[in-house]
Amino acid sequence: MAVYLMAVGMILLCSLCLSAVLLKWNELKYRKKGLPPGTMGWPVFGETTEFLRQGPNFMKNQRARYGSFFKSHILGCPTVVSMDPEINRYILMNEAKGIVPGYPQSMLDILGRCNIAAVHGSTHRYMRGALLSLVSPTMIKNQLLPKIDRFMRDHLCNWGGSVIDIQEQTKEASPDYEMALLSSLNQTIGFLSGSMRDSLKSEFFKLVLGTLSLPIDLPGTNYKQGLQARKKVVSILRKLMNERKASIDTDNRNDMLSYLTRSEENRQKLTDEEIIDLIITILYSGYETVSTTSMMAVKYLHDHPKALRILREEHMEIKGRKRPDDPIEWNHLKLMRFTRAVIYETSRLATIVNGVLRKTTHDIEINGFVIPRGWRIYVYTREMNYNSYMYPDPLAFNPWRWLDKKADLANNNMMFGGGSRLCPGKELGIAEISTFLHYFVTRYRWEEIGGDKLMKFPRVEAPHGLHIRVESSP
Ligand code: HEM
Repeated sequence: MAVYLMAVGMILLCSLCLSAVLLKWNELKYRKKGLPPGTMGWPVFGETTEFLRQGPNFMKNQRARYGSFFKSHILGCPTVVSMDPEINRYILMNEAKGIVPGYPQSMLDILGRCNIAAVHGSTHRYMRGALLSLVSPTMIKNQLLPKIDRFMRDHLCNWGGSVIDIQEQTKEASPDYEMALLSSLNQTIGFLSGSMRDSLKSEFFKLVLGTLSLPIDLPGTNYKQGLQARKKVVSILRKLMNERKASIDTDNRNDMLSYLTRSEENRQKLTDEEIIDLIITILYSGYETVSTTSMMAVKYLHDHPKALRILREEHMEIKGRKRPDDPIEWNHLKLMRFTRAVIYETSRLATIVNGVLRKTTHDIEINGFVIPRGWRIYVYTREMNYNSYMYPDPLAFNPWRWLDKKADLANNNMMFGGGSRLCPGKELGIAEISTFLHYFVTRYRWEEIGGDKLMKFPRVEAPHGLHIRVESSP
């Protein structure tokens, strides 16, 4: 027995010594002059486990020790985390100085080499220009809003008298539900036949999974399946594009693919490859943010009856101004001031996007420190959402705070990013969520079944769904 205990003791001691040596070695490896303070954790793995397990608390603890600008090693890369609003703004405004998007390799491989996060400088400017012309206020008003309205009107049919999983209805990857993706497909490539639509959707979800995985190109990995799914998505989009080109003189479709294919409207003269990657970028960037915000708005409105009452009054007023079959129009959207405030407050309180990733193209000085070439910068914006100076009583759901126009105009939040990469789909996203809320609150009343768990990190989701009992409004 004593020998056994001694052996165990020796093993423990050796493990402790080895751990201490490995940790020290890793710290020394990164002890370059000029780097911000912080810890680098284990060789290769860094502090990824702690970051994923503790989430926001990991960030807060490191900030308490090292300040708002510290180094770490997370998600496979030496990283500087910035939690300081001023520095965050500086980083987002200075892409030209060599602080470019730093998204993981799997994402870049699968979304294509022309996707907007992979391109910089002049290429980024003209790709972004092409995208902005597709989602401009005029396009939303004349082309996209009528499509969104038709879609939401149908999607929100026959919910009364049933228990539904609102996450499934707004977000899940199940064939008939995915509201934001279906709506986005409708805007980007128009109406598709059932089998083509289903195949595009199921390949698209494999593509998304692939972008979130490690780039291991072996049979059966999510990455490999993501690459294969990309090939299929590209081949479907290429086929559609060729059909449209063949009927270019008669094609009067008003979806984004047709706009980009018709050369007189494709002012940026994108190549076929660029058009395909742009369509994939739009589908990818818009769907989860919109669906998660819609789900969380339903949750918060349920928990805050006064906000729900005022939101419903706003929509009843709009409903009263039009005939039952008239669509939501641009001037109706402009009247939805409280709805917009609810959407902002939902994005803030739920923190739909924790932050954005950048990397350095050469050694660069930020905040008095030198960030080496190739390091990642995590512009962690989450804590700004709970800053009590910017948002008094920050944990309260208070849409009214956004009605003070200054809060919006001051543009002091980063929920939609900032600088040259500020979300180009912001107004489109708000139009989609507002239209969803219009049909939801004017047609139905609902209550939660209760007991469903919500996760806020690393992404906002209800692991087992968010179930509500829905009744048609009298
Ligand atoms: C509530 C909804 C949305 C939220 C919270 C959101 C959030 C964001 C954020 C934080 C960024 C900055 C990323 C970065 O700096 O690296 C971004 C960029 C982007 N968003 Fe959105 N987004 C939303 C809706 C949409 C929609 C509907 C589209 C569809 C057109 C879209 C397309 C994009 C694109 C293409 C970029 C990259 C822009 C660039 O790199 O120049 N987003 N979004």
